[in-house]
Amino acid sequence: MTTTTTQLSSFLTNRIQRIEVSATMAVAAEAERLRGSGVDIVDFGVGEPHFATPEHIKEAAIAAINNNFSRYTAAGGTVELRDAIIKRHHADFGSGYKREECMASVGGKHVLFNAIQVLVDHGDEVILPVPYWVSFKDMIRYSGGEPVFIETDEKQDFALTAEMVERAITPRTKLIILNSPCNPSGAVMKPEDMVAVLRLAHARGIYVISDECYVYLNYTGRLFSAGELHDVRDRLMIVGSLSKTYAMTGWRLGYVLGPAAIVSAMNKLQSQSTSNPTSIVQKAAVAALNGSQQCVAEMRADYIHLRDKAVAGLRSIPGITCANPNGAFYVFPNLSHYFGRHGMNSAADVARKLLQEAHVAMVPGEAFGSSLHARISYPVAETDLERGIERMRQFFAGL
Ligand SMILES: Cc1ncc(COP(=O)(O)O)c(C=O)c1O
Repeated sequence: MTTTTTQLSSFLTNRIQRIEVSATMAVAAEAERLRGSGVDIVDFGVGEPHFATPEHIKEAAIAAINNNFSRYTAAGGTVELRDAIIKRHHADFGSGYKREECMASVGGKHVLFNAIQVLVDHGDEVILPVPYWVSFKDMIRYSGGEPVFIETDEKQDFALTAEMVERAITPRTKLIILNSPCNPSGAVMKPEDMVAVLRLAHARGIYVISDECYVYLNYTGRLFSAGELHDVRDRLMIVGSLSKTYAMTGWRLGYVLGPAAIVSAMNKLQSQSTSNPTSIVQKAAVAALNGSQQCVAEMRADYIHLRDKAVAGLRSIPGITCANPNGAFYVFPNLSHYFGRHGMNSAADVARKLLQEAHVAMVPGEAFGSSLHARISYPVAETDLERGIERMRQFFAGL
């Protein structure tokens, strides 16, 4: 007898049924299916750099293999790696974290999962600005917490202020999640807004996770980390990742900087689940963090160029509005002008038609809490960016 979905749901845990498969993965799967049947897809769906990992980082991994650096390490990463993380962060942001306040995990996503699991309990509220990165909502729900959404306004460049956060605080608020630069909007919080939110949270005894996976992809000319603030540390967790900074998405290396007691709890959880991030990757990460940061500056310059092209191209399509993002590598155009035509009434409808008829893949905003927008990930060859936007222009012109 085969097991039906209904039977399955009766023995799967309640917590696994509270979450959904990552929507960005779903788009990638559909684009892959079409590509497999011979369709030429311009893919703006996948959120990762189009660069190869820099040579000196690859060489460090190869050396680690050749030197048989292939055993278990401490669950939270080697001392060498944790020292490299805190040294890099201190050099860039004057943060001065200690070794016991730092831990490495299998990507920023893993860090966030660990942090939310140790901080959020059943019934706790977690403030989450919209649009949000897909996984935050599901990680909160998996832990038993409730996301409390704060809408931001595209006309204000998706800015988040302390006043907006204050209105969402209740006696059950445990945690606020910040993500600047933001996936999917590319918005960068003004340092003074970030400081005001951190101080407000601290004064109210609320924890903050500052997801800084894109901290080096900030195009304002002033890199900024919450770690620059020293007097709110006992409530602050900084999450970092090598994925985007060094074009290492597949390598899986992320880190946390935060209060020793919380880091220690995360370490305990990790020691009972994945154990250490891959030993070889840790050596590569040390090379990335200790080596020249010229590669990061070069990639950043390229992203700025692509961002400018993407924004100008999208704004030249009648009816589409698009904020100018100051970081990350996404643009988040508003497609609602075309709702009501061609059977399209939401961003999901528009994205589906664009994929099927114009062969351009992007992630509909519903995944990020908005049914008006779609996320375009612009780390692609410049010619593909041009081709994709041209296809969109023709698609919308034909409606
Ligand atoms: C906002 C944000 N946080 C965390 C991550 C996780 O990145 P990784 O697990 O590759 O370090 C991503 C990846 O897309 C992201 O966009």
